[in-house]
Amino acid sequence: MAKKQSKQIKVQSVKGMRDILPGEQPSWDLVRDKVKNFGQNYGFERIDTPILEFTNLFKRTVGENTDIVSKEMYSFVTLGGDKLSLRPETTASVARSYIEHGMLNLPQPVKLYYLGPQFRHDKPQAGRYRQFWQFGFEAIGDSDPVIDAELISISYHLLKEIGLDIEIHVNSIGDSECRSHYLKVLKQYYQGHRKDLCADCKDRLNKNTLRLLDCKNKKCENLAAEAPQIIDHLCDECKNHFMLVLEYLDELDIKYTLNPKIVRGLDYYTKTTWEIMEIGQEGKLQALGGGGRYDDLISLIGGRPTPAVGFAMGIDRVIAKMQELKIKVDKPNSRDIYIAQLGIEARKKALNLVEELRATGFQVASNMSKKGLKDQLELANKKGVKYTLIIGQKEISDSTILIRDMESGVQEIIDIKKVKNEIRKRLDSYEAKSIKLKK
Ligand code: HAM
Repeated sequence: MAKKQSKQIKVQSVKGMRDILPGEQPSWDLVRDKVKNFGQNYGFERIDTPILEFTNLFKRTVGENTDIVSKEMYSFVTLGGDKLSLRPETTASVARSYIEHGMLNLPQPVKLYYLGPQFRHDKPQAGRYRQFWQFGFEAIGDSDPVIDAELISISYHLLKEIGLDIEIHVNSIGDSECRSHYLKVLKQYYQGHRKDLCADCKDRLNKNTLRLLDCKNKKCENLAAEAPQIIDHLCDECKNHFMLVLEYLDELDIKYTLNPKIVRGLDYYTKTTWEIMEIGQEGKLQALGGGGRYDDLISLIGGRPTPAVGFAMGIDRVIAKMQELKIKVDKPNSRDIYIAQLGIEARKKALNLVEELRATGFQVASNMSKKGLKDQLELANKKGVKYTLIIGQKEISDSTILIRDMESGVQEIIDIKKVKNEIRKRLDSYEAKSIKLKK
């Protein structure tokens, strides 16, 4: 009976979701550390919001007719009757938090950054997961175009410092007024070519006309190339805003491509939009991240009209690109020392010694359940430690311990009371030697 049950359990992760194993963690740590470092150095504070939010938050902001909300959200009703969704993105959550915690009363703009998993029930493929990670930066409470340029600059420099070769593609999609006028012109254009549109775009034509511009279907791409461009329909205010963003980017010496297709897949954007592209195989562009201004979002969910701008980057895609480019990531320092023990009494002594050394700041590895010395030395070797401390019955009686240099295999007896000083001395001279060698 028990056998039958265990057969029914699928020992695999859910489709589109995966484990990030220890071997990959150094790359992930590098990105996470870089994000924290940029956050700190650019005056952004960390925020963590819950993974679950009320479904309506995303419907209102990301938009009911977007693919994300209409097709890709993990939504459910709780036992208490609440309609919740796993967050497909974090900007809406940050905006909710801004209102809920009265951040309006803080000096503006409020600058926040985050790191965390997102969930979209999308078709899994290379670079597209159902659980993926993003980091994002948001500046809420300022309408000045210089903030747009600052955020574009942060998104650019962060990836550059990691070692990626990227392009910034920018556009402006205007505000709700000039865009609504443009949408009429755009719809008219596409209606004249309805028969050539793919099935998805025929469907989107009335619901989300702007998205027709970034359809990847070949025929739709050709139509998009000839379509009226929003840039020619911006009101003066939106046009001036955009021109200033570009001027600041020029000043910062950040190269960009003007790309009228950057309309983004979320409804909350106004004015500036941008994507950070990496050039993939066969010259195909893939977005590593994207962002834009979202001046109407806060008022859409009940806050006072508050301008804002931000971006988010897909960490899984950043890591994949780092691996493709074979970007060198330093492994975390191998453990300083290994403690091997022989016999119950020695094991008791070793247990205490691990605690004592760890509390002093050493990295200590051990496998206390192992009995043989050969086994333990093999494990110490695998960990890459420089020294192994060996303690047995004789050492306990003599109040000594053996210290083994793992490279040369030379062992020395030392007084147990001097063990900390001895290890420190040897590790310091080992470090000094390897620095000399590197030079
Ligand atoms: P987004 O363009 O939907 O924007 O997502 C940003 C990045 O997340 C994408 O460029 C991509 O790298 C990554 N991403 C999206 N979907 C997936 C997926 N299924 N698998 C792997 N990576 C994925 C936003 O989410 C906005 N909240 C950005 C923003 C912040 N706008 C203003 N502030």
